[in-house]
Parts: sequence; C-alpha cells; structure tokens
Amino acid sequence: MLDFEYSIPTKIFFGQKKIGKIGPEIKKYAARVLLVYGKVSIKKIGLYDKLIKVLKNSNITYKELTGIKPNPRITNVRKGIKLCRAHSLELILAVGGGSVIDCAKAIAAGFYYNSDPWDFFSKKAQIEKALPIGVVLTLAATGSEMNGFSVISNQETQEKLAAGSEVLRPRFSFLDPSCTFTVSKKHTAAGVVDIYSHVLEQYFCLTEGTFIQDKLAEAILETCIKYGPIALREPKNYPARANLMWASSLALNGLLTYGKIGDWSTHYIEHQISAVYDLTHGVGLAILTPYWMEYVLDKKTLPKFVEYARKVWSIDEADEFAAAKEGIEKTRDFFNRLGMPKTLSEVGVEDKRLVDMAKKITSFGPVGSFRELKEQDVLKILKAAL
Ligand code: NZQ
Ligand code: ZN
Repeated sequence: MLDFEYSIPTKIFFGQKKIGKIGPEIKKYAARVLLVYGKVSIKKIGLYDKLIKVLKNSNITYKELTGIKPNPRITNVRKGIKLCRAHSLELILAVGGGSVIDCAKAIAAGFYYNSDPWDFFSKKAQIEKALPIGVVLTLAATGSEMNGFSVISNQETQEKLAAGSEVLRPRFSFLDPSCTFTVSKKHTAAGVVDIYSHVLEQYFCLTEGTFIQDKLAEAILETCIKYGPIALREPKNYPARANLMWASSLALNGLLTYGKIGDWSTHYIEHQISAVYDLTHGVGLAILTPYWMEYVLDKKTLPKFVEYARKVWSIDEADEFAAAKEGIEKTRDFFNRLGMPKTLSEVGVEDKRLVDMAKKITSFGPVGSFRELKEQDVLKILKAAL
C-alpha cells in the first residue's frame, strides 16, 4: 500500500426526511445562491417546489441556471459565472445528476478565475479557489456529489475533459433515494454501470498489499450486481435505490483509491466518444469495459483478473486464463442484462472517426496505469469494440 492523506469532507444528509435541513446548511455559507438544474425532472418530482419554499422560508435569495444537458457544456459554465458575478452569489446549489453537479463545480471555480474556464479542462490553469458548492442528488451514478472532479464538454473543440481539485468537493450533499424513483430504465442502468466502472478503474491496479481497498471495492461491485436489476424491475424499491445511491458516493469519493493508483483508461476513452457522439456516459462504459479488459489481460495483469473472477463472480475454473476470461464474459453479460448495447456501432460510432479519437484520447500522453495504453493501443480497443 502507498502512503496517503485522507480527507473526505462532504457532509452527507441521507434519507427521505432530510431536505428540511437544507436551509440552515446553506446559511452557514451564503445568503444568495445560484440554483443549477437540468431540464424537467426536478419539477416533475416536486423537488423544485419544495426547495423554493425552503429557500424563501430561510430568506435565501436565488438566481436560476436551468436546462443543463447531459454531457454539460462549457457555454453553460460561462453563463453561470456571469450570473454569479452580476448578482454577487455566494454558493452554487446543484440539484440533479452528475451533469448538473459538474457544471456547478466549474462555475464555482470559474468565478475566481479571470480568463476562460475551459483553461481548467485543457490543463492551461489549475483550480485553486472555488465558491462553496451544495448538492441535492437525483441520480445515482457519478459520485460527483462527494468528490472534487468536474467533467465538461466543449462542442467547438469536440472534447470532453475532466478537472479536479479538493476545493471542488461539495460542502454538503442531500441524498434522498426516493428522488431517484423516477429515473428512466436507461439512466438507472447507465448509472449502475458507471458506479461499477469507477470501482473497476480503482480495483484493477498493480499496487500490492491493498487487501482492505479490494474488499471495499468488491462490496460495491456486489451491491451493483444485486440491486441494479431490482431497481430496473421495481423503480420504487427503496432498499435498491438507497444501496445504489450510497454506492455511487462511496465508489468515487477517494475511499477506494487511497494508497493505490487508479487506471482510468476506459473513462478517458469513453469521454472522447461522448464528446463526439453525445453518448450517455454509462452506455459507453458498458460497451468499452469488456473490450478494455480483453486487451489488457496478459501475464502481468492475470492475477488481478483471477482475483476479480473468483471473488466477485465465484468462478472456480482451475485454469487461470480461462477463469479470467469467464470473469470478463460475466461482466459483459451483466451489462447486457441491464439493457446496455454491446458494440459502438450500435450507438452510431463510425469507423472513420476512430483514428482521430485515439489521437485526442492520448493527446496528453499515454493513458492508464494497470497497463499503459498508447495511441495505437487505444485504436485497437476502439476497433475491437466497433
Ligand atoms: O435534465 P433532467 O430533466 O434533470 O434529466 C436528467 C438527464 O436527462 C435525468 N434525471 C436526473 N435525475 C432524474 C432524472 N430523470 C428522472 N428522475 C430523476 N430523478 O437523467 C438524465 C441524465 O442526467 P446526468 O446528470 O447527465 O446523469 P449522470 O448523473 O449519469 O451524469 C453524467 C455526467 O457526469 C460525468 C459524465 O461524464 C457525464 O457528463 N461524470 C462525472 C464524474 C465526476 N464528476 O466525478 C465522474 C464520472 O465518471 C463521469 O465522467
Ligand atoms: Zn464514470
């Protein structure tokens, strides 16, 4: 295990009756807030009305930035920064899924930056300061509610890139599983795959002596395997939604990665596909993950694949390569049972774009650490997944 410093400061309010506490929580940081949300869902589920009532009763004034789309755009970030500056807003309240939260985070950081916020994502500038961020989560998937990452799309450059800083961790997040009862089958499944993928990106690692991190990881994988199908069959099943929501936060708040190094190449590859084709993040991950696994399986990575196959999928096949391959097939089958497609061509990805995408994915250098991938490796994975 590597040395580390542990800090996960986001205060979590988990459950159905917690929202009443949001007024005093906001007031610790602000009297004027920017309310950021997506298209329609928060109004449909009655959350918008509830929150406006709380804000008014707590004498908190607010401006709204609405219509944040999945794969959130840098153009909305720029709009949000202008609103915050024009009205001296002091906290960003994100109400929605990962896209809304990521947009809120980029606005919070851009507020203190005198040039274009895209600089954070193109690695021209580092995030050093940000307005406080609060979250009301409505979709279990990204872990953005408890981490310091933001992923933003730029349609002009056809890029989707991440930026990270400890100052982007939300000060508080309200997690009410019943808010996710209305999430569609597609987004529920994509969310489960995203959670599962976050765990795999940290589980598949060559650092030795990380027994405790691996056991925590396996518990979250098993949670997805158990509750993903139940949430699809019974959207209002509270235990299923609750376990998935907490799994979302625990999978990517840092807990699994302290003391080791994550891989993240599947995420780098998927983000570029989403940038070009506006694909749902979890759908892209479901397609790519088994192909990435097949490509990186070799003598050096074999022990981890065998561990995964035996611990998570209870595979007792004696031959180690055969067991590893069975584990990969089980993973593919799990994603397919959730309704996810198997190939990139099924979601409209064209062969002619792959070379350019592989170039962009590796433009900051090779990706991955479990097995480092150069441009040609990435291209091979994309071609296999087509
Ligand atoms: O716009 P509305 O009407 O709100 O609809 C949304 C949206 O269409 C809908 N939705 C959300 N809550 C709902 C609901 N529908 C019904 N009932 C509810 N309660 O769901 C759709 C998808 O929302 P989105 O926020 O895009 O989904 P998700 O949470 O999966 O976020 C995906 C984004 O997060 C990024 C992804 O790349 C993608 O851009 N990620 C962020 C990470 C981070 N910050 O740590 C890490 C991840 O790996 C990921 O890259
Ligand atoms: Zn993800």
